[in-house]
Amino acid sequence: MSPIPNKRPRRLRVSEAIRSMVRETHLRPEDIISPMFVINGTDAVEPINSMPGVFRFSVDKAIVEAGKVYELGIPAVLLFGIPDHKDALGSSACDEKEAVQKATTAIKDRYPDLLVITDICLCEYTDHGHCGVVENGKILNDQTLDLLANIALSHARSGADIVAPSDMMDGRVAAIRSALDGGNYTGTAIMAYAVKYASAFYGPFRDAAGSTPQFGCRRSYQMDPANVREALWEAALDIEEAADIVMTKPALSYLDVTRAVRDAVNVPVATYNVSGEYAMIKAAVAQGWLDEEKVVLEALLSMKRAGADMIITYHAKDAARWLQR
Ligand code: PBG
Repeated sequence: MSPIPNKRPRRLRVSEAIRSMVRETHLRPEDIISPMFVINGTDAVEPINSMPGVFRFSVDKAIVEAGKVYELGIPAVLLFGIPDHKDALGSSACDEKEAVQKATTAIKDRYPDLLVITDICLCEYTDHGHCGVVENGKILNDQTLDLLANIALSHARSGADIVAPSDMMDGRVAAIRSALDGGNYTGTAIMAYAVKYASAFYGPFRDAAGSTPQFGCRRSYQMDPANVREALWEAALDIEEAADIVMTKPALSYLDVTRAVRDAVNVPVATYNVSGEYAMIKAAVAQGWLDEEKVVLEALLSMKRAGADMIITYHAKDAARWLQR
């Protein structure tokens, strides 16, 4: 007979009451940010094939969707605009009559307490699909900064609470901060996609936003998935440039990166549970191979456990609903 153990971790697992008492990590609707794709026109709700349950909304419909998000106790939406016209410099990105600007104003008007975060990038607005100005097949850094700053200013003017640059150009947080301050938008915060990897998990998003690069790839500006020291440098630079929140992206294959960033910085950390991560779960659930509620809540909890203070996820509304039960 082996000796009976005197140390028994199972003592604290015996009932839900005791498990919940010793639980180390919690997921709440307040931790969640809901991404939304907005388009021009009216009365439009377009499904996205590779992202079941996610839609492109015209502004009038986006207001309704924002209301549902708000009612579920989710504090923020993250808006992505899809324009009708694209050109080499992404000119429509600064147009006050474009979908994102109009949706921002309309949502703030109807739901002033719901935070509106806007994506700052060129790729949805450029005909070549890159996140910067292109010359001779190269993505130019410094020539892109003014454009990004102008987009941020235009979003701030429309009422955005937080702007979120996702382009990965060097120095863009400083450029955006200085433009916002110059325009007297000192209170508009910056959530920087500080640590954004060149990931194949963005595939479905590019379908949704029509932002697939027409040549080459994004590896000259987005990070190499092999690197984590570089992530700390990126985060440090963005904070030095006055980022208020730093983000890691994608989430699931990069939980170690989120932990490393969380341990290294003192600002809030967000992580982006991206389109491909969403599509994988949805596909398996559609086959009947996974329990959607359980796997989604487990995946989101893992991001909190890795140190994320907030999670951007297409599961937002479902998760908030499940958490309320
Ligand atoms: C734009 C942008 C992308 C995502 C967020 N902002 C696409 C990309 O960099 O190619 C991806 C989001 C997702 O996959 O859910 N630069």
